[in-house]
Amino acid sequence: MGRDLVKRDLLWLVDLEPEDIWELIVTARRIKAGRIDVSRDMEGKVLGMIFQKPSTRTRVSFEVAMLQMGGHALYLNWNDLQLGRGESIKDTARVLSRYVDIIMARVYSHLDLKELAYYSDVPVINGLSDLCHPVQILSDLLTIYEKLGRLVGVKVAYVGDGNNVANSLLIGCSKIGVDLSLACPEGYEPNQDILGMAREYAAQSGAKIELVREPSEAVKGADIIYTDTFVSMGMEKEREERLKVFIPKYRVTMDLVTSTGKRTYFMHCLPAHRGEEVTDEVIDSGISIVYDQAENRLHMQKAILRWVSGL
Ligand code: CP
Ligand code: NVA
Repeated sequence: MGRDLVKRDLLWLVDLEPEDIWELIVTARRIKAGRIDVSRDMEGKVLGMIFQKPSTRTRVSFEVAMLQMGGHALYLNWNDLQLGRGESIKDTARVLSRYVDIIMARVYSHLDLKELAYYSDVPVINGLSDLCHPVQILSDLLTIYEKLGRLVGVKVAYVGDGNNVANSLLIGCSKIGVDLSLACPEGYEPNQDILGMAREYAAQSGAKIELVREPSEAVKGADIIYTDTFVSMGMEKEREERLKVFIPKYRVTMDLVTSTGKRTYFMHCLPAHRGEEVTDEVIDSGISIVYDQAENRLHMQKAILRWVSGL
């Protein structure tokens, strides 16, 4: 694709209009139900997947999606590329653009991802950065829609670290009218600029967005309780300090779940650190929909691959 042609990156959900998010959800549902034949959509196409951090779901779902769509995916470990020896992101982006049709990258720094997208001639998809995890939240919105039959007016309570997943939940929920209440400890709040943007999107969509300290306050009347690890990849040095702050108050227990006063589903992007952010009792219970979330990554990746390709 030449630089003069518009390419569709998916770096964060800010890039998407609410209509785009709905289109992706509807398309993924139809793909899942077998109502759209995607088996040749990626015929002859190659997805380059750059990983600077480990992955199970993101890697496997994108790879299987490409295979099932008639294309091919290349796993490119950052440290095995010349990037790991100091080749510039600019040169890497320009060179990969001559070989592959789409790039998906999981990186530490969101700024690196932006640089990669800037110099790439092919669409770039964020497979998780320190700032956000948009492809996760798109498939989570699909999961919520499947379970509850609606998104507008659904209440999600996010309990824990104001990390990349929380940031993407803020953008995704506020854009399409899902109420989001976050309970985070002081010093571990979501990105302030993203919170500001979410409040603006919410003013348009009618979503209620709030940030509180007490998990018991956030979960009142919640349809969904969502949590994520207290120690994201790259933060291992802070592990002990973080666990001291989070575990006493922010672990999702069955007591917290039942305190909503209604039937509430439990969500987690995985990998879970059982006994830290969630108890076995909750994640293994009938209200846990974590494996449906994981499955939906596959269906949503297909919708995303079509979307960035302009299909
Ligand atoms: N949820 C998620 O992105 O999982 P992986 O780290 O296994 O890709
Ligand atoms: N917040 C987690 C998400 C993993 C999918 C991390 O960045 O490690």
